[in-house]
Amino acid sequence: MTTSLKTVIVNGSPGRPSTTRALLNALRDRLAENIALDAVHIDLVDLLPELGGAFSRETFSPSLRATIKSIEQADFLIVGAPVFRASFPGLFKHLFDLVDLDAFQGKPVLLAATGGSARHALVIDLQLRPLFAFFQALTLPVGVYATPEDIQQGQIVSASLAKRIELAVEQASPVLQGLLLARQSAYFKLQRHAA
Ligand SMILES: Cc1cc2nc3c(=O)[nH]c(=O)nc-3n(C[C@H](O)[C@H](O)[C@H](O)COP(=O)(O)O)c2cc1C
Repeated sequence: MTTSLKTVIVNGSPGRPSTTRALLNALRDRLAENIALDAVHIDLVDLLPELGGAFSRETFSPSLRATIKSIEQADFLIVGAPVFRASFPGLFKHLFDLVDLDAFQGKPVLLAATGGSARHALVIDLQLRPLFAFFQALTLPVGVYATPEDIQQGQIVSASLAKRIELAVEQASPVLQGLLLARQSAYFKLQRHAA
């Protein structure tokens, strides 16, 4: 029985510790108060150095293949990246170049990014959102951007970021609850059909 949403949280930072990971953790924890998530994390840093040389599915290692498959099979994705040179990191894009182009059709995706300053906050709407539009994903309306003033030692320290997270969760929750209900009713229909 489907009791939770298969959630894959992708962190596009090639570093550790990662401010982006801290933001993604905060989003995960706040969302989990509203909706049952069965969450797994994929951190780009763990895919190095294989990712850069991976171009064809046939030659992926079993672990990279499993990672790509888990991204493709998610019900819901939370995707975050640090800003590098006014965009997302090249290897983050490369990871999504390896994903099947039909894998995210209609799937909800919550977007997040961190940068050294607020100047590049539009990376979410001008770069991340178009990437997921390509995949025909359902990008959720509010993305969350944070800077070093917002996150210190892995903790959210600014009221404005906390407020933005609330807004993102408030906007995302009805969509995710609807998806979970649809999954559950499809499951019960199948059970009735099988009985
Ligand atoms: C190579 C590189 C390029 C960066 N370029 C930008 C940039 O253009 N704009 C910006 O706001 N921050 C930039 N930053 C800062 C990072 O986006 C910021 O420190 C981010 O929070 C790092 O996230 P992480 O700790 O998850 O890796 C850059 C950092 C690096 C290492």
